[in-house]
Amino acid sequence: MTSLSICKFSTLFTLLLITPFLGRTQDRNITSKVDSLLSIMTLDEKIGQLNQYSVGAELTGPGSKEGQDSIRYEHLKNGQVGSVLNLVGAKETADLQRFVMENSRLKIPMLFAYDVIHGYKTMFPIPLGESASWNLELMQETAAAAAKEAAAAGIHWTFAPMIDVSVDPRWGRVMEGGGEDPYLNSVIGVARIKGFQGESLSDPFTIAACAKHFAGYGYGEAGMDYNNVIVNRETLLNQIIPPFKAAADAGVATFMNAFNDIDGIPSTANQYLQRKLLRGDWGFEGVMVSDWNSIGEIMSHGVAKDLKDAARQAILAGSDIDMEASAYVNHLKELVEEGTVSIDLIDEAVRRVLYLKYELGLFDNPYAYSDEAREKEVILSEEMMALSKRAALESMVLLKNENQLLPLDPSKKTAVIGPLAKDKDSPLGNWRAKAESNSAVSLWEALEKRNFKALTHEEGCKLSVGKNNFFEVLTIEEEDRSSFASAIEAAKSSEQVIMVLGETAFMSGEGRSRSSIELAGLQKELLKAVYEVNQNIVLVLMNGRPLALSWEDEHIPAILETWHLGHMGAEAIADVLLGEYNPHGKLPISFPRATGQIPVQYNHKTTGRPNTQGGQVFFTHHNDIERTALYPFGFGLSYSTFEYSDFKINATEMTASGSIKASIVVKNSSDIDGYEVVQLYLQDVVGSVTRPVKELKGFERVKLKAGESKTISFEITEDQLKFYRANETFGSEPGEFRVFIGPHSAIDEYLSFELIDDRLKN
Ligand code: BGC
Repeated sequence: MTSLSICKFSTLFTLLLITPFLGRTQDRNITSKVDSLLSIMTLDEKIGQLNQYSVGAELTGPGSKEGQDSIRYEHLKNGQVGSVLNLVGAKETADLQRFVMENSRLKIPMLFAYDVIHGYKTMFPIPLGESASWNLELMQETAAAAAKEAAAAGIHWTFAPMIDVSVDPRWGRVMEGGGEDPYLNSVIGVARIKGFQGESLSDPFTIAACAKHFAGYGYGEAGMDYNNVIVNRETLLNQIIPPFKAAADAGVATFMNAFNDIDGIPSTANQYLQRKLLRGDWGFEGVMVSDWNSIGEIMSHGVAKDLKDAARQAILAGSDIDMEASAYVNHLKELVEEGTVSIDLIDEAVRRVLYLKYELGLFDNPYAYSDEAREKEVILSEEMMALSKRAALESMVLLKNENQLLPLDPSKKTAVIGPLAKDKDSPLGNWRAKAESNSAVSLWEALEKRNFKALTHEEGCKLSVGKNNFFEVLTIEEEDRSSFASAIEAAKSSEQVIMVLGETAFMSGEGRSRSSIELAGLQKELLKAVYEVNQNIVLVLMNGRPLALSWEDEHIPAILETWHLGHMGAEAIADVLLGEYNPHGKLPISFPRATGQIPVQYNHKTTGRPNTQGGQVFFTHHNDIERTALYPFGFGLSYSTFEYSDFKINATEMTASGSIKASIVVKNSSDIDGYEVVQLYLQDVVGSVTRPVKELKGFERVKLKAGESKTISFEITEDQLKFYRANETFGSEPGEFRVFIGPHSAIDEYLSFELIDDRLKN
């Protein structure tokens, strides 16, 4: 990889630090109100607006220093807290708001924030799963629905969407985002932001969104959460930040920084990220919140000598709100008084927070969101459940279906085996906000209601309670094989078997990295044992991350990836298993052949020794495994079959101001109506820096009736050809580009065109 020069930005930072705040939407009405409020605030009150702590029993990070459960009334009274997280409920939030409004000098309303990741009380599929739908309208709709429930319960602000490009499935938080591709993460992120925020932040049915984690959190070494991130500048700019730029452009209200370091500087203290890129280049004027105690963690990174030094670095870098470190509330005043931090910097951050509060309408009505009647009406309503089921239906990915084992024939004697078959909790997934434990429909419950002639259940291996960090979580049994025999017996005496295997909810998510992504515990052994006696197996997978499924792919005839689909997931799975719904999800992340192959993303570089050298040993590969993914990015089957033909581009040369039309005919060659996600990839064959072998640049979901054909066209413009070069300029470069259109990323056939405009050279 070309090593890139790192520019020095100190002059620029100095300039930026004194640039006055412009207001997110330049609403002069709001900025003048903010200014007049600011002019009567004491320094303590200003710093209070930058202080956020967690209230309530919920822990989303290591315990806070000042007592997790206690509401610090004295601080609230003194105006020392601007926002809290983890306090929810119309009544609870209204009560606390009232306390602040009645007891504090300036009566500045509080902001209530919460991690509404894939639902508030009604659970939709985990974000990675829902991303497999490639249905942006749907994702906007579920985000809007989640916002509606949360807003009624007093929440103003969600810490979502997570738009970290995630290339390592060992990382538990892959479940929380849109997978491995920068473009897909960008469009999904924007859809979710639009869903959460709606048309106007002041609408009390919507909430402010937060683009997180800025930046690089998905690249932790060895897929280990919170680990150091070692990426070069080119990867940072071309792979990691595009979704964040898209979020800023789409008007996301807030950003959250990340736990990890970039270029050796913790993100929270990273001036290049926050001042240069975000505020400077992109002109983002909204709030930047730290991650949980990430200001305190600047010390643990060994970059600050004490909390005061950490506070100084964070505010200089542009972190406006301190979540849970109490660094600002305890040290900013002293830093200002001794002249280390200018009051302008504090004012700039406070303005952003106040501006957001105005935008949310809180100064007009601090209680607008906390609405007990609305809370009862919208939460877990029929409408929510129907949407949850629709989202679940669209999120499943059919990975294999040999001999058309699926859809199942219900007149055959069927055994349902596996520790997750009766589990009512795992389908809810991690980051489940206020979902009731065990409140999902289990797959067994859903199947039992269908018209199977004979259906039996055996767990085969158990779920067991293990300790994962400080939580007790359900996991998969590793030693007790006592249920094997009856499962094998049931499989033997059945004509077909549904194996329900994967991960429990808390085996993925924050702090849940795994060193092996094979089926956990005794599950693989159980599967093999069942396979010995009955090979008509449909493997239904429930998991929060890609799994390594080489053995399974080789032996099991049908494999359905169902992720953790939320409350109504099981009903949706039953519909697919019985052919009442035709699956059409496509993987937003590659499934490797083995853990040791990670990372295996489709958009890798060619390297100096690409895999085109026949039988020689001296090229980029592992000796014991194929270089490709087992199931590539973008892959997914359907009960329909699709044929692609007549691939064309309308010109072989393009200028910067021009465009190329690429088209292909897609035919549903089956007798079942279905959806196909037609994908456009481009390759920049020669660049001034190494370029990916392929990059997703567009897609279209198309519905095709049985036998129907449609021509799908994509317009390619110069914008899609741009990338960051070694000098950090962003632009396209003349030369050959390859166009690929197909059903997934592993397509080889391409057509070429030449970008010819000389003006583009710089
Ligand atoms: C996570 C964030 C989350 C925050 C608040 C942190 O541990 O990294 O994504 O928003 O906690 O719950």
